[in-house]
Amino acid sequence: MKKVFWSPPSLKIEDENALIRVVRSGWLSDGKETKAFEKEIADYTGAKHVVVVNNGTSALLAALLAQGISKEDEVIVPSFTFIASVNSILAIGAKPVLVDCDLETFNITLEKIREKLTEKTRAIMFVDVSGMPNDIDGFRQLAREHNLFLIEDAAQAMGGEYKGRKIGGFGHTTIFSFHMAKLITTVEGGCVLTDDDEIARKVRMLKNHGMQAKYDYGFLGLNFKTTDIQSALGRTQLKRLDYFVEKRNKLVEKYKKGLKNCRFQEIPDYVTKHPYMLFGVLVDSGIRDDLNKYLNNNGVDTRICWLPAHQQEYHKTIFSNENLPNSEKIAQEIINLPMGNGLTEEDVDYVINTFNKYFL
Ligand SMILES: Cc1ncc(COP(=O)(O)O)c(C=O)c1O
Repeated sequence: MKKVFWSPPSLKIEDENALIRVVRSGWLSDGKETKAFEKEIADYTGAKHVVVVNNGTSALLAALLAQGISKEDEVIVPSFTFIASVNSILAIGAKPVLVDCDLETFNITLEKIREKLTEKTRAIMFVDVSGMPNDIDGFRQLAREHNLFLIEDAAQAMGGEYKGRKIGGFGHTTIFSFHMAKLITTVEGGCVLTDDDEIARKVRMLKNHGMQAKYDYGFLGLNFKTTDIQSALGRTQLKRLDYFVEKRNKLVEKYKKGLKNCRFQEIPDYVTKHPYMLFGVLVDSGIRDDLNKYLNNNGVDTRICWLPAHQQEYHKTIFSNENLPNSEKIAQEIINLPMGNGLTEEDVDYVINTFNKYFL
């Protein structure tokens, strides 16, 4: 039986050569390769500053801490997200205020955020779910009106575009992840992007125990450093990012033409490029688990995405009174089908045929 992996990466000889080059160079940890990687991400996105760290979760922690978010502060965040968004807020002792998502786009909306604003709200962390950009102009306007920080959790959205401009280059603090399933990979990795000199300076210090000069520590930081081996891989991957985005869009087109009996994420006009880190389809909640099991049993690797944060075993003790029906509904209906830089058209044909056979 054919097997289609959920998120196959694409690694080529140039990736291998980059790794070998650094292994033989005599310098392995965070150094010149990482600096070059940061510059290339800045050039790609248009961000003034880029700081590469060891993963996307560290990037979120550093972004929150650098903005001075602390114990008394409330941070708006979607419930329908990968748990790292919420955990980063909990980890620094601040209060995540969960917002429901839109049923069609899976992203949070200005209306739903407004309902949850209080005097204690300091920041909005919005998430580009499955990589799809949010309404950045609207969010920036709302943040200005209420004097709030914006943090864009674009862990899944590298290569995406809002109104023709690359995600990461809008000035507000944004993070990417370079985990194996993301648009580019360093196996594990991430970065913070910002146009704010002070935030960038703090993130740089935070990633290295608060160091301001050699062994001179200005405030409390931790070790979020990456390695030059990983940055070298990131650099060769970044050269192919636009190709990966185009390839994923072609595969999605094929999926959308071929799949029957399911619905797709709606894409607003302001999204000029969806990078499709994930490709989720919605089916009737009554058949979702059975269909998912059938796909897995027939060689199609899938993910049923995330339970909303307020329904996770640990988090439901914290968010016991939440009622966020859209997040709950999508979580019951979604199946993330295979999508990745290494996925082939034949893989997608196999998934489509297998999926459609279920309904015969
Ligand atoms: C929305 C979102 N935020 C944050 C992260 C955390 O990134 P990492 O796994 O690199 O720590 C992820 C990773 O999947 C994610 O999807």
